[in-house]
Amino acid sequence: MRKKPFVPAVLAVLTLSILMLMPMMASRSQSAPQVAPAPAIAQSPAPASTPAASPSPLNASLPNVVLLATGGTIAGTGATSTTTVGYQAATLPVESLISAVPELKNIANITGEQVLQIASENMTVEGLLKIAKRVNELLAQPEVNGIVITHGTDTLEETAYFLNLVTKSEKPVVVVGAMRPATALSADGPLNLYNAVAIAGSPEAIGKGVFVLLNDQISAAREVTKTNTTSLNTFQAHDVGYLGYVQLGKPYFYRLPIRKHTVATPFEVGTLTALPQVDIIYGYGSNRPAMLNAAIADGAKGIVYAGVGNGSISVQLEPAVIAASKKGIIIARSSRTGAGRVVRNGEEKDDENGFIVTDNLTPQKARLLLMLGLTLTSDPQELQEMFDTY
Ligand code: SIN
Repeated sequence: MRKKPFVPAVLAVLTLSILMLMPMMASRSQSAPQVAPAPAIAQSPAPASTPAASPSPLNASLPNVVLLATGGTIAGTGATSTTTVGYQAATLPVESLISAVPELKNIANITGEQVLQIASENMTVEGLLKIAKRVNELLAQPEVNGIVITHGTDTLEETAYFLNLVTKSEKPVVVVGAMRPATALSADGPLNLYNAVAIAGSPEAIGKGVFVLLNDQISAAREVTKTNTTSLNTFQAHDVGYLGYVQLGKPYFYRLPIRKHTVATPFEVGTLTALPQVDIIYGYGSNRPAMLNAAIADGAKGIVYAGVGNGSISVQLEPAVIAASKKGIIIARSSRTGAGRVVRNGEEKDDENGFIVTDNLTPQKARLLLMLGLTLTSDPQELQEMFDTY
């Protein structure tokens, strides 16, 4: 429920957004039908990176927060105010995101950079490295207090966890998205952005790892996952819950992430231009080895097996998995259930077969940790320790 003081602000933001978008919408309506065709979300052309931001404090009593924009629905636009699917992600530039929320000026000095402009299903390893390097460069500047990254929600949790592993600073980093495009009735982006900036500028957020913020809920990057295709309440932290909430421009924390992160990890991306290939193989009844073998033939150094239940592997698939492990491919057993730990030597003979287990990480996050782990070692025991630690 929004409190009354926000209502005029939200109306102002909507009006501003619609005014800004009218020429775009007019030209679209001449060339395109009103009802958007099948592809739900398209990618706009990637822009060149903007130059480094140098925050120039306008108000010395406010924190300096840098907004790194990467696209997504939070920067998306639809043909009408009721277009909540079938819109175009990643169309608004960072300047529009900032100017749509004039209230940001009350809580931080904001500068913005357009790092990427993509729908997040198109995020690549190169994109992750680009964001991570920029985050580290900026946070090394004493005048920068925190960073907000606007991102599509589809892979937002992956980028957030990657940053949780490679950011070399205790300063707050908040990854924020929206489920409704900027042109929609009740667009959630503006308030999500406001809340994210409030966290990024807050001393209470220091040293707690990378956060995800949507729907007023603050989550730890390691724990949170998108659980619903369209709901505003899509980001859930399953068994372990949220860290806290943001209300009236202030974060309230109730718990701390325990798993090591940021400055307490050995992962350095400064000189990396690529990461070892790791692919995810999904478990299901009647599994056959074709997909596993194709991934290995394609160059995978590691496989995250998103197994059924407690990471179980079927008898039809198991010989190929064991053979791959014996050849030096790292096999990480994970679960497709979305919650709970995969227990070492529980459903499979992990010690005997040289497998590792991914604890309670989702397969998509286990993939990122395995890629980073493989930059340091290919020893299954050392990799297992990483999964037990981060
Ligand atoms: C995307 O992930 O870029 C599109 C979907 C969204 O942001 O909600």
